[in-house]
Amino acid sequence: MGRIRVGIVGCGGIARGTHVPHYKEMNDVEIAACADIDAAAARSLAEDFKIPRYYTDFNSMFEKEELDAVSVCTPNMFHKDPTVAALKAGAHVLTEKPMAGNLRDALEMYEASRKTGRILIVGFQTRFRPDLNMLRNMVNAGELGEIYYCRALALRRWGIPPRKTFFSKTLAGAGPLLDIGCYAVDFAMYIMNFPKPKSAFGVFYTKFGNNPEMARRGCWGGTWNPTEFEVEDNAFGMVKFKNDFTMLLETNWASFIDRDRFSVELLGTNGGAQLDPFEVYREIQGVRVTVRPQDQMPNVDIYKMRIRKFIESVKEGRPLFSPAIEGLRVQAILEAIHRSAIEDREVPVEWDF
Ligand SMILES: NC(=O)c1ccc[n+]([C@@H]2O[C@H](COP(=O)([O-])OP(=O)(O)OC[C@H]3O[C@@H](n4cnc5c(N)ncnc54)[C@H](O)[C@@H]3O)[C@@H](O)[C@H]2O)c1
Repeated sequence: MGRIRVGIVGCGGIARGTHVPHYKEMNDVEIAACADIDAAAARSLAEDFKIPRYYTDFNSMFEKEELDAVSVCTPNMFHKDPTVAALKAGAHVLTEKPMAGNLRDALEMYEASRKTGRILIVGFQTRFRPDLNMLRNMVNAGELGEIYYCRALALRRWGIPPRKTFFSKTLAGAGPLLDIGCYAVDFAMYIMNFPKPKSAFGVFYTKFGNNPEMARRGCWGGTWNPTEFEVEDNAFGMVKFKNDFTMLLETNWASFIDRDRFSVELLGTNGGAQLDPFEVYREIQGVRVTVRPQDQMPNVDIYKMRIRKFIESVKEGRPLFSPAIEGLRVQAILEAIHRSAIEDREVPVEWDF
């Protein structure tokens, strides 16, 4: 195989910050072209990274460029169209997280990958966290006994992304539930090997993003118009599983808490554990002990890893992390929590794909 020809759809923050620079470091990859509905965004990405061609229509890019691989870096509600088009054009796709803005789109993407036989990977870079994998290995080895409960956390004290991509309902689909809650649900499902859920209950709150004073003060160097803030800024959910396991999801962009948390906390019959900081609670010789690593966890550039693993997947012809079916199942849980919050009742989780 010669050099892998990559195309980028969506030339905003994440494409510029992590996709393009990591492809550029690889000798076996060339970025052939990029596309964005905003011509200025496409042109400046092309100029800054010496990408030979740019397009304002991703379909023209797919027609003309004969791409092997595509990164989809558009807002959540616009992951589906470029992904399906890229797969149909014969390219393998790495789409940004969450898989889509809703379950219907995610299902269409999954089906397109299945029918075309092309790889679709959902870019959960957190899959490469060493602490997450250590915990997963412990659970799989039965070291904590039977896990019956988990808190999946993606919590920020003050971290409202000050851009419409994230808080316009038509672009994002939902707020932190999709934006960062997807990581927490993915942590838990990955550790637990994707058990089958039964039902979900969710609640949403919007308490900060629509507050004029807080919007004026802003976040991460940006301010916003509070009347344009259309999504929840706090989302909570409880998911019951067929195998007697329960997951609590807590996610938000703003809340009065001690510190940000991207973690899971597990309760098992022989031990408990959490990430961030990594700690294990168990008994040794009948004495309750807390175990902490002596050394720092290995320092892994998880963003670089996901691009490298995607290209390796393309070469091997199979997804080496976070395949479409897993992104779809994470989306199914998020969708059920969302629907429950809107309908104010417990709802079943769709699962038979
Ligand atoms: N993995 C991560 O850590 C991470 C971090 C930030 C964002 N993201 C995800 O990446 C995606 C994009 O986020 P961002 O911060 O780069 O947003 P952004 O607003 O900076 O960029 C999005 C770009 O997509 C373009 N676009 C919109 N609709 C399009 C379409 N139909 N066709 C082509 N281009 C289109 C916009 O013009 C914009 O340039 C989101 O899904 C977000 O959740 C992931």
